Amino acid sequence: MIEFTRLTKRYRGATAVDGLTCTVRPGRVTGFLGPNGAGKSTTLRMLLGLSRPSSGSATVGGRRYPGLPDPLRRLGALLEATPAHPERTARQHLRALAQTHGLPDARVGQVLALAGLGPAADRRAGGFSLGMRQRLGIAGALLGDPAAVVLDEPSNGLDPDGMRWLRLLLRELAAQGRTVLVSSHLLSEMALTAQHLLVIGRGRLLADAPIAELTAANGSLEPAYLELTRDAVEFGAPR
Ligand SMILES: Nc1ncnc2c1ncn2[C@@H]1O[C@H](COP(=O)(O)OP(=O)(O)O)[C@@H](O)[C@H]1O
Ligand SMILES: [Mg+2]
Repeated sequence: MIEFTRLTKRYRGATAVDGLTCTVRPGRVTGFLGPNGAGKSTTLRMLLGLSRPSSGSATVGGRRYPGLPDPLRRLGALLEATPAHPERTARQHLRALAQTHGLPDARVGQVLALAGLGPAADRRAGGFSLGMRQRLGIAGALLGDPAAVVLDEPSNGLDPDGMRWLRLLLRELAAQGRTVLVSSHLLSEMALTAQHLLVIGRGRLLADAPIAELTAANGSLEPAYLELTRDAVEFGAPR
């Protein structure tokens, strides 16, 4: 379980995350939606301890992530940053990560296979396409067989086959009882993948509901999403 409690991040001029309180539960895929600049990445970075909250807290399994003795077993994450040293192969990258965190080397082959990177395992990450880098990042997130997984825009750069792979993987991880939080702005893909949605705009929670509830009125997610975020779009087309 992941919990955000009055989580707030202020930058000099602006409030990126504004008193966010919600719980991400295990056993289902939770989609994290919101317009560009809504605060999704900032929220996830605070959860990972990569950015310090101005106030409030973010916890996984009831504890703050920074300082956990076994972080990769608690929470696996793919954030926006490029995941690997370009000179290292996918396998070398994952091996180094496994060693640093005291994880079994056998896990490296497993996550390479899980990510569909078997054939590319011994190629340098510097030559990877965006989609392959995403797969490698996801392999790294799963290395510790974590109880919770957060992925920031993981479908970026994936081809249709990759999108389908990711969708099935996320559903499987949730079905195994893990907590799965995934940000995206691809509504149609999210509608196929997630069972539950968090929608934020201007750093505030706009919706925390099952997909079925959000789509009930119109049969599809887009109208509900546009209505929810109507006043929260910074860089939108004129309406
Ligand atoms: N390091 C930073 N310094 C100043 N402002 C930032 C910084 N990081 C993010 N922001 C601002 O915080 C807001 C939320 O950004 P972000 O979390 O990246 O949104 P999202 O991931 O939902 O697109 C944006 O207005 C962004 O410009
Ligand atoms: Mg973002």
